[in-house]
Amino acid sequence: MASALFDLTGKVAVVTGASKGLGRAMALGFADAGADVVVSSRRVDACEEVAEQIRAKGRRALAVACHVADWGQCDALIAAAVAEFGKIDILVNNAGIAPVPPSLAGVTEELFDKTFGVNVKGPLRLMAMAAEHMPAGGSIINISTKASQRPSPFTVVYAGSKAALNAITQATAQEFGPRGIRVNAIVCGPFITDSFSKAIPTPEAAEHVAKMITVGHIGQPEEIVGTALLLASDASSYMTGALINLDGGGS
Ligand SMILES: NC(=O)c1ccc[n+]([C@@H]2O[C@H](COP(=O)([O-])OP(=O)(O)OC[C@H]3O[C@@H](n4cnc5c(N)ncnc54)[C@H](OP(=O)(O)O)[C@@H]3O)[C@@H](O)[C@H]2O)c1
Repeated sequence: MASALFDLTGKVAVVTGASKGLGRAMALGFADAGADVVVSSRRVDACEEVAEQIRAKGRRALAVACHVADWGQCDALIAAAVAEFGKIDILVNNAGIAPVPPSLAGVTEELFDKTFGVNVKGPLRLMAMAAEHMPAGGSIINISTKASQRPSPFTVVYAGSKAALNAITQATAQEFGPRGIRVNAIVCGPFITDSFSKAIPTPEAAEHVAKMITVGHIGQPEEIVGTALLLASDASSYMTGALINLDGGGS
């Protein structure tokens, strides 16, 4: 039965950057599919609101503050998830930042370190620690960007960090494969979220972006849920190390 393939009943998901945007959409989507969810970002009050929405669906939820560039906080997030639920079946490394430097010479050490800290260093640690508590059938999903494959001067640091995340996705897929844990990435095109609106602030600019997308619109956060469910569930049991484009057909 098709729905049984995507069923997450009895599974525990940890989603970073889950207070809003794509992370929130995936956390709620996993709960709709039957999972209990650890909702994490830096702002625990915002995570608690999402956790409440998940509880209203009849699932269990735990809100945990975690700045993913800090390995101590990453370890504490995994420990909190395991203390509450006893295991982790699904990890989504969704928290990410995309600051735009004024120029290559204008890239500060702070901007570089922060971007790689959030987009690369944190996900690597969370993968390593979460896998210690994942039974066979576990799934790790890393949220990447088309910029990792089509970089530009505008995205130089962000693109470089997400290209590193793509490489780490494929390396860890090999590492964890024999243990029955799969690792894949969703390579996103533009989605309407706060970080998108920060980068593309006017309706005219957004319309210009939409016109370049094959399906003719910018993604809504809910449009990541189907792909995330595919990767999180047994429906993708033969898929690992994949970098899946989710970009409305691209531009
Ligand atoms: N939207 C797009 O067009 C697009 C395109 C390609 C890829 N992506 C990727 O999709 C992911 C989600 O992006 P989004 O657009 O949904 O962003 P968003 O709406 O701005 O949400 C970002 C989330 O990450 C959290 N966050 C930020 N810094 C963090 C940190 N240091 N530690 C832990 N959590 C942190 C934020 O919560 P707090 O502020 O509470 O920490 C928030 O929950 C990112 O990895 C992004 O690179 C997005």
